[in-house]
Amino acid sequence: MIKRKDFGADFKWGVTISAFQNEGAADTDGKGPSIWDDFTKEPGNVKDGSVPGDTSDFYHRYAEDIELALSMGFRVFRFSLSWSRILPDGVGKVNMKGIRFYNNVIDACIKNGMEPWVTIYHWDLPQPLEEKGGWTNREIISWFSTYTDVCTRAFGDRVKYWIVMNEPMSFTGLGYFMGYHAPGRKGIGNFLRAAHHATLCMAQGGRIVRANVENCLVGVALSCSYVKPVSRFFMHRRAAKRMEGLLNRFFLEPLLGMGYPTDVMPALNVIRTFFEPGDEERLAFDFDFIGVQYYFRIVAQFSLNPPVLFATEVPAGIRPVTMNEMGMEVYPKGMSRILDFFASYPQIRNLIVTESGVCFPDFVRGDNINDAPRRKYHEKTLKQVLKAKKKGVPVSGYFAWTLVDNFEWSDGYTPKFGLVHVDFKTQKRTIKSSGKWFRDLLT
Ligand code: BGC
Repeated sequence: MIKRKDFGADFKWGVTISAFQNEGAADTDGKGPSIWDDFTKEPGNVKDGSVPGDTSDFYHRYAEDIELALSMGFRVFRFSLSWSRILPDGVGKVNMKGIRFYNNVIDACIKNGMEPWVTIYHWDLPQPLEEKGGWTNREIISWFSTYTDVCTRAFGDRVKYWIVMNEPMSFTGLGYFMGYHAPGRKGIGNFLRAAHHATLCMAQGGRIVRANVENCLVGVALSCSYVKPVSRFFMHRRAAKRMEGLLNRFFLEPLLGMGYPTDVMPALNVIRTFFEPGDEERLAFDFDFIGVQYYFRIVAQFSLNPPVLFATEVPAGIRPVTMNEMGMEVYPKGMSRILDFFASYPQIRNLIVTESGVCFPDFVRGDNINDAPRRKYHEKTLKQVLKAKKKGVPVSGYFAWTLVDNFEWSDGYTPKFGLVHVDFKTQKRTIKSSGKWFRDLLT
């Protein structure tokens, strides 16, 4: 059995949510459209055919949700800002009603003794900027800088923890290479352009946060996977190295001043076509912490497609493993391996698990919501965090994904990740058995 005190008094316990997935109120109080508002309107883009609508209505229920998180013993509340609520056109005029909303959220956190952790960008680019090329247009560096400047000046007096960007690999890979996420664009050229600009924006965003906010801690949240080759055959082992290069090193290493991981993928050098003089230095920034977001294990094999990567995943569905509702392999043991991986970079001083969670179906009987598999997942994963910590890995926090059930991007409302169940017809919240387990652990 794990105990809170095993993690130490300074360990941060939090929950994470995001603007598009939780707020609803897509065109309320002057908010402009984001790429996700538009993308989810197109039939066929959301797998289960659902539309986001009010999602979990955080816009009107933030006070209740913050109290709910507090009642389970969490002391960190991580949420993202909606760019188009603050700057409806992406740049230009600031929407004071948007600023007021986030001021209310921040003040409610502070009133409840909860640390507000702000993510500046969690995938919901303003649609007017996408019409100018979005992440593929180098102008994004200037748009993103303006947005970061506005946010840090507005909230930096009370918010001390900043995450510049959430999972750049997800929104550039799924949104600009595979077309599965907003804005639905495809192709290697779009991906590499978007990825290079996203890395430049992270570093530039870090510099702006540090300049504007006194005594801040600034980081980025990176997705990662524990990658294993399907067999010891050298072609598969090399394929796994390339997969790791793409999934775990691609955004991290340039930020650490090491450049893109072209050692395992020489063809990746084409990304230099999008470099301007000085970019090498511009890509690096000394972040105070790196946010680790590990959800699944990948078994990799050699494949002629896609080019550059020459590797594919052996689907979890054809292996005898536990899968989540999105068909990915659930593998808690990977957490300590992935923390070891990050800790192997001497430049990294502090790691925080800024998201961890799993989607499994719930068993609902009136007000009794049994999600034992989710509870066990968190427990097993936390044991792995502890294992790494005991070995000396500098991991100092664990934030559950996610507080309440919400809208899971292109997968719609089907996958459930919440510690709290939401009846989307009435917006009634009911703490699941996993949430009660956290309450017992933390309070
Ligand atoms: C993202 C969340 C998402 C979660 C579960 C993370 O990649 O940051 O927005 O809901 O994973 O898929």
